[in-house]
Amino acid sequence: MESETTYQLLDGKQTSADIKAELAVEVEKIKAAGGSIPHLAAILVGDDGASHTYVNAKVKACELIGFKSSLYRFDASVTEEELLKKIEELNNDPDLHGFIVQLPLPDHIDEQKIIEAVAPEKDVDGFHPENIGKMALDLPTFVSATPYGIMQLLERYKIDTVGKHCVIIGRSHIVGLPMSILMGKKKNPGNCTVTLCHSRTANIKDFTLDADIIIVALGSAEFLTGDMVKEGVVVIDVGITRVEDNSKKSGYRLVGDVKFDEVAAKSSYITPVPGGVGPMTIASLLMNTLTAAKRGS
Ligand code: GUN
Repeated sequence: MESETTYQLLDGKQTSADIKAELAVEVEKIKAAGGSIPHLAAILVGDDGASHTYVNAKVKACELIGFKSSLYRFDASVTEEELLKKIEELNNDPDLHGFIVQLPLPDHIDEQKIIEAVAPEKDVDGFHPENIGKMALDLPTFVSATPYGIMQLLERYKIDTVGKHCVIIGRSHIVGLPMSILMGKKKNPGNCTVTLCHSRTANIKDFTLDADIIIVALGSAEFLTGDMVKEGVVVIDVGITRVEDNSKKSGYRLVGDVKFDEVAAKSSYITPVPGGVGPMTIASLLMNTLTAAKRGS
């Protein structure tokens, strides 16, 4: 018999709007109590189009909810020393609660050195090794934006994760690795049995076909196809790739790591691209900034 699953979208656009509305209420409370308004800064180097788009969206989101924001732009030719000097200045700025250095950086700059120069208590991106260690050990810290956003989506949609088999595809330091830790924690969401798949995994379909939850973070357009998943699966698509499309005014369309129509037909819940994980990352960054501000005051 043909089984037809009707899926529900995990709507990141709506959820992030809900979170921003909650944060705006928090700002009002802080103001009423005479506390310091959360202040986020971003350092942007060079003129990578996607980085500009992301940083502008972060600044706009701050304005929308009443946070203070600052943007420091540097030419792609900036030296590592100049950037380190700026970071030192921001680390010591008592009016600033958190800041990010938008990645990627030009090749002549050592990205790891920059990440480690950010004071852990202002590292609202959660990229500093100290913060990743704390996240792994369940200590209070900043969970980085994409994993935090995914956990928020699972929590707010009350996805049952206990005892489920969660397959994560991709082992990046920013998404796959932290997700594998978070989903296995003795917490909810969490309590999953986790499999971390990557480019060297043999017979990946054997794992994905057994998965109750799949989180795909590969950056490979439409990698996960309908034949790779079972009925009722929960799918989180972290990928976002520009694919040439002359029917669009922009000349491209945005595609995730999931072949949406095929996989959605078998899913219970699935994130769309765009409008899924993407908007959640900004909401998470703002939540971390509020946490930093509360800690500091
Ligand atoms: N580049 C892509 N994603 C991110 C992010 O979450 N933070 C920063 N700083 N750079 C990025």
